[in-house]
Amino acid sequence: MSELKVLLSREQIARRVAQLGEKITIDFAGETIVLVGVLKGAAIFLSDLARSIRLDATFDFISVSSYGNKKLNSGEVKLLKDVDQSLEGKNIILVEDILDTGLTLSYLRRILLAKHPKTLHIAALLDKTPRRTEAVKADYVGFEIPDEFVVGYGMDYAEQYRNLPDICVVG
Ligand code: IMP
Ligand code: MG
Repeated sequence: MSELKVLLSREQIARRVAQLGEKITIDFAGETIVLVGVLKGAAIFLSDLARSIRLDATFDFISVSSYGNKKLNSGEVKLLKDVDQSLEGKNIILVEDILDTGLTLSYLRRILLAKHPKTLHIAALLDKTPRRTEAVKADYVGFEIPDEFVVGYGMDYAEQYRNLPDICVVG
């Protein structure tokens, strides 16, 4: 890990997250929602997004096996922690940091749909479209980014850099 270059500044992120929150507020007017965050990468995004949503919202968290200390996806997803509550009949927004190959979100979508929610939507802060191998799309996307490995604003490289306020490219 040599160099960090800012790709998205904290100001850019804050503006975009506020817009996503506004959009969700409008789309779900009159409804209550459950924000289901994917640990640990989406924790900061969820906490900012939640505060820009003006609806009754509850939180839950789910955890899946990650890439470990590698930058490459092993192609395998394993559930490490399920949600704590029943999602039956609820409006779920699955909140994820990055939509990359799509393996994680297509797996999680399957798991959550099996819980019979009323609706299921996906909010991904970042979308690396060129790397997609699975047919999965996010309903709310913060930014489309090129195929580069990023850290900060919750995202890590070997568990480091999650607390950087900006999203940076690892050189
Ligand atoms: P997917 O299953 O390939 O879509 O990968 C999604 C997961 O991989 C995300 O939840 C991230 O945890 C991780 N990931 C993918 N790209 C990056 C990156 O550039 N930086 C940090 N984590 C990443
Ligand atoms: Mg993740």
